[in-house]
Amino acid sequence: TVLVVDFGAQYAQLIARRVREARVYSEIVPSTMPVQEMLAKNPAAIILSGGPSSVYAESAPRLDRELFEAGVPVFGMCYGFQLMATALGGTVDNTGAREYGRTPLHVSKSGSTLFEGTPDEQSVWMSHGDACSAAPEGFTVTAATDVVPVAAFENDEKKLYGVQYHPEVMHSTHGQQVLEHFLYRGAGLRPDWTTGNVIEEQVALIREQVGGKRAICGLSGGVDSAVAAALVQKAIGSQLTCVYVDHGLMRKGETEQVEKDFVAATGVQLKVVDAQERFLDALKGVSDPEEKRKIIGREFIRVFEQAQAEIVAEAAEGEDVAFLVQGTLYPDVVESGGGTGTANIKSHHNVGGLPEDLEFELVEPLRKLFKDEVRMVGQQLGLPDEIVQRQPFPGPGLGIRIVGEVTKDRLDLLREADAIAREELTAAGLDRDIWQCPVVLLADVRSVGVQGDGRTYGHPIVLRPVSSEDAMTADWSRLPYDVLAKISTRITNEVADVNRVVLDVTSKPPGTIEWE
Ligand code: XMP
Repeated sequence: TVLVVDFGAQYAQLIARRVREARVYSEIVPSTMPVQEMLAKNPAAIILSGGPSSVYAESAPRLDRELFEAGVPVFGMCYGFQLMATALGGTVDNTGAREYGRTPLHVSKSGSTLFEGTPDEQSVWMSHGDACSAAPEGFTVTAATDVVPVAAFENDEKKLYGVQYHPEVMHSTHGQQVLEHFLYRGAGLRPDWTTGNVIEEQVALIREQVGGKRAICGLSGGVDSAVAAALVQKAIGSQLTCVYVDHGLMRKGETEQVEKDFVAATGVQLKVVDAQERFLDALKGVSDPEEKRKIIGREFIRVFEQAQAEIVAEAAEGEDVAFLVQGTLYPDVVESGGGTGTANIKSHHNVGGLPEDLEFELVEPLRKLFKDEVRMVGQQLGLPDEIVQRQPFPGPGLGIRIVGEVTKDRLDLLREADAIAREELTAAGLDRDIWQCPVVLLADVRSVGVQGDGRTYGHPIVLRPVSSEDAMTADWSRLPYDVLAKISTRITNEVADVNRVVLDVTSKPPGTIEWE
């Protein structure tokens, strides 16, 4: 295992993903973990991430020098680089020599482990205020910028390496190569970690955990629960029962995808609960977004618990239903481990977020995986592309894409408009370019239009295509005009009561991705 020491969560997660892309298994540990504890994990190598601090700040996270003396290869990036420099007797100054963004790097490659085979001049992503002016003794300086004399150093004998920039981000043109050089050449690791190994390993672990008992899994239609269920199904077959709550807030065809395609691909036992009426009743007269979220979350739990109780009651004697399968991913695990708490902008409790007082033991076969790895596992398990490649979709579904009260008619209307937009985006080959494209019905707004010979007084539909890396920030997607034109024409022609299509051109921040 390669340990990524987390001095700033966003950076650490990206680094861990890049290491895995190099087919080496990696895990994130908090920077507050004592060095002894890190070393006790027997890491094959350690990477120190970047972070927002200055090594001069009073409260800045530090590292025990011991880490560099244990014979484990270490790679420091940005803040990690500066920590390494200070811990080993180099000089880091607060010179005011700031560099932010894309920066040209001048590399002196001779004998360099990290830079071999990369160009003498390369573009890297910088983000620092302090700068290293002298490398620790025994280190060779291997790169500089116009501003910073020591932008990379290495001590090949001791297997210690550092770069001032962020090799993990896309804008550092040879970043992945440099990282791989550290892993393969510096640390002597081999690229042999694959998602195929994950499936075998998890199947064995699930069998061991569940034994002869039974398990339940809630399916949401999304990637995570589907892949988790498919893995558990592969491990324990008919001991698993899946539950799908049809709350009527799904997009066109999605319920059928679960009921038909997912079942066909996995052979899973599925219990479908038709709760559409119940959700509509509960949502009657409600237009406040947070109120809608609460109601949908609450009703979901109630319906799920009822289904669960039925499964438990139907189980034969001796068939203890003891386990609940959840599609928890690695970022959730890392974030809930060291969360500092951010402002509550929207309550993102997933529908599928279950009560805490469960009498079940959890099975979480995706706990170590990032989203792109989950998709790969899903693909290997033979799940349909429509499920595996599905873009993010909020738990409360179309319920928070109708600005105003949620009714059956409005849901049906929005489902049609949304299906048209998705169909055209797919036909134009744009699915991979956009993160997601909420289609929103402004149910309380009316505008005048003219169709055929008559005046209309209908509702607008908003298209909200965005590109993003992680949904924390986003930009509006610059879709080709002809695609937008086609979507607009089709929606106004084919969906009754809609006489206008508008495009949302707001980035996030200040707008959020969803309208509610
Ligand atoms: P916002 O609108 O906050 O959305 O920019 C960021 C991402 O989260 C999704 N989203 C939700 N997901 N329950 C969910 O499971 C929710 O209540 C919810 N609200 C927003 C949104 O689709 C986007 O991907």
